[in-house]
Amino acid sequence: MPRPPIQRPDLPGPFPEHIAIVMDGNGRWAQRRGQPRVFGHRAGVQTVRAITTACARMGVGSLTLYAFSVENWQRPNAEVRTLMRLLRVFLWRERATLMENGVRLKCIGRLDDLPDRALRTLRQTEELTANNDGLVLRLALSYGSRSEIADGMAAAARDVAAGKLDPDSIDEETLRGYLYDPETPDPDLIIRTGGDLRLSNFLLWQASYAELYVTDLCWPDFGEEALLESFRAFAQRQRRFGGLPPEGGEAEQPGKTPPPEQSVVQPKPSQT
Ligand code: FPP
Repeated sequence: MPRPPIQRPDLPGPFPEHIAIVMDGNGRWAQRRGQPRVFGHRAGVQTVRAITTACARMGVGSLTLYAFSVENWQRPNAEVRTLMRLLRVFLWRERATLMENGVRLKCIGRLDDLPDRALRTLRQTEELTANNDGLVLRLALSYGSRSEIADGMAAAARDVAAGKLDPDSIDEETLRGYLYDPETPDPDLIIRTGGDLRLSNFLLWQASYAELYVTDLCWPDFGEEALLESFRAFAQRQRRFGGLPPEGGEAEQPGKTPPPEQSVVQPKPSQT
């Protein structure tokens, strides 16, 4: 079946190539409706489906979803089991849609912690979609940024001990190479639903120059219009990557075309 054509939204500036989302607020969404928390997770799966499809059709390069953190193992057993089952069922049911939209699945995190059946389904779906060349959907599962960095450092230390890595040659790119998925570029835009103003141990290395966008909407209420609203906000940000805009001009935006109608921002005394 031919893939639906890419339809880029009309934005007043650059389009985010990699979006990462902290999908928060499922529990509160359910509790406000007098329902158990897992009701919110079930509703959240529908949003995962809708946002993945919307991103694929708009031509987003990568979408990273924070689906389960290393800290989430501390939740009650029943909630953890439901989340693992939802993940497995989602992957089974969505295979056809992933293929139809050219989506490639990747997973990041301490995947060996996942139950066998969930891990098997993940690996099969990664394999099935490996040659798709559209959106890269990355699910962060049993993921924590500090554990990602610790795992990477341990691997680098092993390579040093084995004589495969010279400690004097280590730079930022070397360290990036030891993270879970060094091929995927850093996120341009990190969205958090549910209103909290924190990163919660998500992509701390990769988020260095990401633009942050927080909405009070809970994840089950986050739809395509809310996604477009975040893109519009992103399009109006001026990214300086720690530098200054050239005299009377725009800041450098590597690989991005500056928006024609964006106003010139005067350099401030201190910009980080
Ligand atoms: C945070 O909301 C959300 C999670 C811990 C899980 C997110 C999982 C899904 C959206 C569904 C399964 C995922 C896939 C990829 C099929 P919370 O429970 O912390 O909400 P709260 O802050 O309101 O308590």
